[in-house]
Amino acid sequence: MIDLRSDTVTKPTDLMRKTMAESVVGDDVYREDPTVKKLEELASNIFKKEAALFVASGTMGNLIALLTHTRPGDEIILEAESHIYYYEVGGLGRLGGLIPQLIPGKDGIFSIEQLKKALRPDDIHFPKATLLCLENTHNRAGGRVLDQEKVKEIVSFAKQQGLRTHLDGARIFNAAVASNTDVSTLCEPFDSVMFCLSKGLAAPIGSVLVGNQDFIDRARKYRKMLGGGMRQAGVIAAAGLVALEVMTKRLGEDHRNAQLLATKLDEIDGFQVVNHVETNIIVLELTNNDFTVQDLLTGWRQNGILASSVSEKRIRLVTHYQVSDSDIEKVIRVTKELILQARR
Ligand SMILES: Cc1ncc(COP(=O)(O)O)c(C=O)c1O
Repeated sequence: MIDLRSDTVTKPTDLMRKTMAESVVGDDVYREDPTVKKLEELASNIFKKEAALFVASGTMGNLIALLTHTRPGDEIILEAESHIYYYEVGGLGRLGGLIPQLIPGKDGIFSIEQLKKALRPDDIHFPKATLLCLENTHNRAGGRVLDQEKVKEIVSFAKQQGLRTHLDGARIFNAAVASNTDVSTLCEPFDSVMFCLSKGLAAPIGSVLVGNQDFIDRARKYRKMLGGGMRQAGVIAAAGLVALEVMTKRLGEDHRNAQLLATKLDEIDGFQVVNHVETNIIVLELTNNDFTVQDLLTGWRQNGILASSVSEKRIRLVTHYQVSDSDIEKVIRVTKELILQARR
């Protein structure tokens, strides 16, 4: 199968499996797992933040950050299509007691003027906004890399207003490669960052939260509260080490494959790539009536290709290390054949 549904489908590499099998482990709730410690140290060095915490998933990392930075009843400022709001089961409301204030963005980010309007004055009637979250790359904006000048401006204004700031950096390494910038530079403005090991970096499980020591100490307690205190977690942290040391270096290939696929698909009559493809995500719109999104997905599936719909007319395709150049060629060939059949 050529699985273009998401980069989350990536399986651990042979080196990951070997490193996992050989990992030295201990009880991480007692802080005795050397492999988890090594991963957390490496992450805090790469991100140039004081400390790091290994967590089970991106959703858990974001939720822990929200719980650590806020109190129930606070307002949290988010881009309207953010993953935290859109896809994290409303944990911010159910578990954090937070009131989301959503600001519609362009290319994944809103303007400082929009933020100024959204931040209400200190008034007895209003909840207090205490946290601003951004997302880089922005998933629903089609893997967009945030404009770093805007990020700096917005985050600095939010800080002046007394807000804390968190970055959902599930795919921050994709943003770093696409913008030829270190993750530490992209993340410098934020108090905390969550990044995923289990997406394009191919680890089977795990994300990491980074921030200052006090933040991570308090976050560790919330991780335990949520049932995320893992024991011999070094077995999975070992794959995370390979993700950081090896897999971050090859993400450019995924971006090149996404560019190639997007260019070829866009050339097909009735197909339009609607996002600016900067990283590994393509959003394809069907612009005529040759077939529906469902017809195309079924046709692809019958030929060993998987993708997912994001709306009635749109499909999302994501490249990753298990998608090769020849796979891209096959997708194009099969698509052209399906169109010929549909038009016959
Ligand atoms: C931008 C973004 N943030 C957070 C997550 C959540 O990660 P997880 O699936 O590990 O909970 C995802 C998952 O796709 C994501 O795309």
